[in-house]
Amino acid sequence: MWFMGKMTEGLTITGTGKKDYYKSLLPQIKALIEDENDLIAALANVSAALAYVFKWWWIGFYIVKEDQLVLGPFQGQIACSRIDFGRGVCGTAWKENRTIIVPDVEKFPGHIACSSLSKSEIVVPIHNRFGTVAGVLDVDSEYPEYFDATDADYLEETVKLLNRFF
Ligand code: SME
Repeated sequence: MWFMGKMTEGLTITGTGKKDYYKSLLPQIKALIEDENDLIAALANVSAALAYVFKWWWIGFYIVKEDQLVLGPFQGQIACSRIDFGRGVCGTAWKENRTIIVPDVEKFPGHIACSSLSKSEIVVPIHNRFGTVAGVLDVDSEYPEYFDATDADYLEETVKLLNRFF
C-alpha cells in the first residue's frame, strides 16, 4: 500500500478530497494507538497525525480536570491553557455535550481568541468509557467557514477511538 498514495512521514493518504483523507487516515490512527495505553502518548500522536494531513491552523485537545478544561497535546501556536465550563466554544461543547461548528468566530458569543488569525472552528466532545464528557478536540482554521458536517462526522469517529483512554 505504501506506493499507492501520498506518504506523509509514515501515514499514507489516498484520494482527492477531505472525505477520502479522513477515510484513509482513520484506520491508521486506530493502528497508531492500538498498542498504547497512555492518554498523553495517544493524544500527542493523534494530534500530530491530524495536523500532518490537514495542515489546520491549530489542532489539539483539552482535558476535563475538575471544573475546567486544561490544555493537552496540540499542534500549532501556544494556546490558552485553561477554559471554564460553559465558556468559549470549547466550554460550550463540554456543557452542551455536542459538536459545535463555528463558521465565523467573531459571531460566536464568548468565543475565546487564542489567536487573532483563527477565523473558524470545530469542537468535538470526547467521552470517557462511561459516556461522560472527559475532554474536547478543538480545531481552528485561518479560513472562514472551513468546517462542515464531514469534519464533524469523521472527527466524532476519531474521538471514539479515545474513549478507552479516559
Ligand atoms: N477558541 C476556543 C479556545 C481554544 S483555542 O482556539 C485553541 C474557544 O472559544 O473555546
